[in-house]
Amino acid sequence: MQNFIFHNPTKLYFGKNQLENLTQELSKYGKNILVVYGGGSIKRNGVYDQVMTILKNADKQVFELNGVEPNPRVSTARKGIELCREHQIDLLLAVGGGSTIDCTKAIAVGAKSDNDIWDIVTKKAQATDALPFGTVLTLAATGSEMNAGSVITNWETKEKHGWGSPYSYPAFSILDPVFTKSVPKDQTIYGIVDIMSHALEHYFHHEPNTFLQDRMVEGILQTMVETGPKLVKDLENETLRATVLYNGTMALNGMVNMGYQGDWATHNLEHAVSAVHDIPHGGGLAILFPHWMEYVIDENVERFKQFALRVFHVDPEGKSDKEIGLEGIKQLRRFWTEIGAPSRLSDYSIDESTIEMMADHTVSAREEFGNFKKLNKQDSIHIYRQAL
Ligand code: NZQ
Ligand code: ZN
Repeated sequence: MQNFIFHNPTKLYFGKNQLENLTQELSKYGKNILVVYGGGSIKRNGVYDQVMTILKNADKQVFELNGVEPNPRVSTARKGIELCREHQIDLLLAVGGGSTIDCTKAIAVGAKSDNDIWDIVTKKAQATDALPFGTVLTLAATGSEMNAGSVITNWETKEKHGWGSPYSYPAFSILDPVFTKSVPKDQTIYGIVDIMSHALEHYFHHEPNTFLQDRMVEGILQTMVETGPKLVKDLENETLRATVLYNGTMALNGMVNMGYQGDWATHNLEHAVSAVHDIPHGGGLAILFPHWMEYVIDENVERFKQFALRVFHVDPEGKSDKEIGLEGIKQLRRFWTEIGAPSRLSDYSIDESTIEMMADHTVSAREEFGNFKKLNKQDSIHIYRQAL
């Protein structure tokens, strides 16, 4: 385990009716609020009305930015930055899923910078400050509600990049599982895959002495294996929604990965696919993760064996360590397929013709990526071909 400093400043309100705490949070900020949201799900499930009533009762001046896309675009963030400047916004409030929150992070940082936000996303410039922002989460998946990460797409250049800064943690996040009951089946499945993928990105590393961390990550994976299929069959079940919501936050808020660095190659591979084909993040991960695992298993067979035995309880009888590890990967793929996730790029009509372009994107920021095994463009091409 390496030395580490842990600091997560986001105040979390978790559970039914926690939105009532929004009033006291609002009292800490000025009058002008920019509410940021997506394509309208919050209007259909009533969350918009509840938030607006609280803002009105708190006597706030409310401005709105709607239409944040899944895989949010830099053009939308720029619109939000203009609104912040024009109306001297005091607080941003993201109401929605990871895309809405990620876009809000870009607006919050961009509004306080002389640089274009794309330069900050692509790390040509540094974030130096941000407007404060809070979130009301409506979809369990990304963990963006309690981390500093944000993923932004530039549709003109077909690029999608993750970025973060010490200024892009939400000041507060309100998580009511009831708000996630209306998430449709496909997005629920993508969320389950994304949460498990964050755990998997953490899990594959070479750092010694991460016994507790391993158990915590395995706990997230096992909980998702037990809960995910039940939720997919019972979308309105509040108890299951709460379990998955809490898992989603814990998988990527820094709590389970102190003292070591995870891999993150598969996220890079997936972001390149989404940048070119605009597919759902969780769908792309379900396709790519098992292929990445098969490609890198020889780097540390022991870790794959541990994963197989502890998460999927693979029967080791008569199998070599590698066979046990491979069986674990097979079970993961089967688990995702059985809950309804895609398993091939062709499920999204992706064929050989864009593989070169996607592979170029995987190395546009740096020549090699991934920490468990360093990958280059040829490796990306290989993994994409396997996944066709
Ligand atoms: O846009 P609306 O109308 O709100 O509909 C959304 C959207 O169509 C809908 N939705 C959200 N809550 C709902 C709901 N529909 C019904 N009822 C509700 N309660 O779901 C659709 C997907 O929403 P989105 O926010 O795009 O999903 P998600 O939370 O999975 O976010 C995906 C984005 O986050 C990035 C991904 O790359 C992708 O761009 N990521 C962000 C991370 C982070 N900041 O830490 C880490 C992740 O690995 C990921 O890369
Ligand atoms: Zn993810």
